[in-house]
Amino acid sequence: MEKSYFKNLIKEKLGNVNLIVVSNREPVAHEYVGKKIKSVKSVGGLTIGIEPIMKTLNGTWVAYGSGSADKASSDSSGRIKITSEEENEYYAIKRIFLSKQEINDYYYGYANSVLWPLCHIVYVKPVFNSYQFLAYDEVNKKFAAVIKEEIETLKNNSPETGEGKPENIIWLQDYHLARCAKYLKEYDSKIKVGIFWHIPWPNPEVFSICPEKEALLEGLLSNDLIGFHISYHCQNFLRVCEWELEAQVNWADYTVTYKGHKTKIMPCPISVDFQYLQHLADSEKVENIISDIQNKDEIIEHPYEYLAISVDRLDYTKGIIEKLKAIDRLLENYSELRGKFVFLQFGVPSRVHLDAYKRFNDDINSLSEEINWKYGTGDWYPVVRYFKQLDLETYLAYYRLADLVIVSPLHDGMNLVAKEYISSSANCRGMLVLSRFAGAAKELLDAVLVNPFNTECFSESIYKALFMDRDEKVRRMEKMQNIIKENDIYDWAYNFLFALNMV
Ligand code: F6P
Repeated sequence: MEKSYFKNLIKEKLGNVNLIVVSNREPVAHEYVGKKIKSVKSVGGLTIGIEPIMKTLNGTWVAYGSGSADKASSDSSGRIKITSEEENEYYAIKRIFLSKQEINDYYYGYANSVLWPLCHIVYVKPVFNSYQFLAYDEVNKKFAAVIKEEIETLKNNSPETGEGKPENIIWLQDYHLARCAKYLKEYDSKIKVGIFWHIPWPNPEVFSICPEKEALLEGLLSNDLIGFHISYHCQNFLRVCEWELEAQVNWADYTVTYKGHKTKIMPCPISVDFQYLQHLADSEKVENIISDIQNKDEIIEHPYEYLAISVDRLDYTKGIIEKLKAIDRLLENYSELRGKFVFLQFGVPSRVHLDAYKRFNDDINSLSEEINWKYGTGDWYPVVRYFKQLDLETYLAYYRLADLVIVSPLHDGMNLVAKEYISSSANCRGMLVLSRFAGAAKELLDAVLVNPFNTECFSESIYKALFMDRDEKVRRMEKMQNIIKENDIYDWAYNFLFALNMV
């Protein structure tokens, strides 16, 4: 839906509201570069999805201030206004400052060494540690305290209109904040609060091994609404509630009543700002980047005929090793592609303090080097890695130049790279190869779907997508574009906020 239509619809259906979004990761961090301060945008799916909503509704975003210059760039209460080129588009970040110990135990520890592997089930064992859970709980309490403060500030600063003071809507994001709603409800049981869980929810057998399972469920069931990307994750959650709690689970309307409080569970697939991406991909800026790359590619320095690319956060759930194995097999089976095919892996380093991530980065490097050594000739090699963050326009330029974009997570809540690529590929030159285990595969059925664990079939699918008939590509891409257009980021936000308002 058009963003102006979204804004009016929110006003019409929800009235005058203050939207407070809460996440661990802040959308924009401020970092010192020498003595200067530089703003750095987060690359995660959460920011891609939520920032346009916040700009349109002029909301407040409560998040952990991770940047070295975050304190220096905010006011004394940790607030900073983020503006945009468009008139009337802005939002505020209210930063929470955490100690290194808190980050170690809450973020690297409980969130990313327990909940992340537990929910993704990609055969990396969670590392349970009860004191890290205590830190996680304390940080959730801290987030709740800052949200309360924010509610008071907004109450005092919002002008009294004929319609009264605006209502507050608290929208929590992701697995870092499973206990936050509990503390908010203790402060005021009437606060409307919902959470969107951006990662998969595991089946009851997997969830049952978690020592803190009841506390996590108790925290989550303090929300009025819980959103997951796909129905399967909602069903897993309902089954977990049946297994683990004396809760009343109503399968007809997807609700759970626990300790007298009813929570609605809802599938709500996140999306992207389709129109914005389409326009940006067509912009002069992107055209210029394409020409620059065609004149002199600074990243792939040798010639090629076929280009496949991937853009991933460097995470063991993203199936990067499996993709490299499939490319190895492709070059083994189709020797005519040697000297012609290049796979460009863009990666943004992530959670690098954790051993599982360090090992994973080493594995990517050694496998890439092995493949390059095996097939490389003096003036050509097949795998190119670029592990620094680039701006969106540069990624869009490469999407437009690519014959293939490969998105191959072993398990993913949604995966917005897939939707970003489809939205920005109006010229329909390329094709999407997409893992069946990404939430996006439930909607983008016209991509070439793969099981990344099956190397032989994965490599055959890459070949099939590369040489797919042009008309077939166009037909499939147009179908997928329509699907995203019909459920873009504004539809997603409206569906969630409307449902939260109704519970
Ligand atoms: O995909 C789950 C998620 O939490 C996203 O919501 C977020 O964008 C991404 O992981 C990034 O993770 P981190 O904040 O740890 O860098």
